[in-house]
Amino acid sequence: VAYNTFLNGDFIDISQATVSVLDRGFLFGDSIYEVFPIFNGTTFGTQEHLERLNNSLNAIHLKNPLSGLQLGRIFQELLRETNVETGVIYLQITRGAPAVRSYRVPQQSPPTVLITVMPAPEQTNNTLTAVTLDDQRWQQCHIKTTTLLPNVLAKYTAEQEEADEAIYIRDGYALEGTSSNLFIVIKGSVVTPPLTQNILPGITRKFLLQVLRDQNIPHIEREIKKKELLKADEIWLASSSRDFTPVTILNNKPVGTGKAGPLYEAAYEAFQAFKIDACTEVTADTNELVS
Ligand code: PDD
Repeated sequence: VAYNTFLNGDFIDISQATVSVLDRGFLFGDSIYEVFPIFNGTTFGTQEHLERLNNSLNAIHLKNPLSGLQLGRIFQELLRETNVETGVIYLQITRGAPAVRSYRVPQQSPPTVLITVMPAPEQTNNTLTAVTLDDQRWQQCHIKTTTLLPNVLAKYTAEQEEADEAIYIRDGYALEGTSSNLFIVIKGSVVTPPLTQNILPGITRKFLLQVLRDQNIPHIEREIKKKELLKADEIWLASSSRDFTPVTILNNKPVGTGKAGPLYEAAYEAFQAFKIDACTEVTADTNELVS
């Protein structure tokens, strides 16, 4: 029988994967997650995602129950079994399911570990529409926690306004999307907000900056005023589930020409080449995990 999921030591199908109602992920959102992109049948940026996973775990005082070696083997097993070429591996670790509901952080509570392969949806748009929205999230957006109600509500508001995404504004500055990092083009230069506790340190963001550097495309990490966002020539949103995508309509107005811009096209092509290169090195990457 085919399986696509690892739950607490067992390989099963996602439809069979269940957790206790006492699970702290369910009761408190006491849980973190990570999303590893799958490209050409292998995970891409594995080390970077594992590093961020460990940072998230440290931030909530939870020990990683699995070594890099164990995770690497689980990934390989799931990828072999599902043969998924494009998609993501979703990983979630919660603080387990102690017998009593209590805010206190339990000393002895085996974490719940879920790892599942999600194939990419058949069709996704090549461009996005977005609206700006006040950032209602907390002060530690650099932690990749599953406590995502503010993001869900922002996405709901965006949909009510017939937009695909919301771009968060805090204190007059544009930060990121509900599940993506923000890049804009002004005066021929790519700008992305610096890493602070107000945004997630995206791995796609990191690789995209590397590609811009390699391609000598002018770019800078600095704060973006809402005013600058509203008059940007190009806007891109970057995430592991879809590389990066141009926003062609913001607040019901066209961005630049209303089409994917020239810097987007140049960066996108270079990014695809970068991914192919990175994935040919993946065997070495995985060996590193396993050794
Ligand atoms: N989201 N910012 C936020 C708030 C995010 O949730 C994400 C990713 C990113 C982009 O990070 P990365 O490039 O490492 O995927 C930025 C994932 C894909 C999700 O929640 O499904």
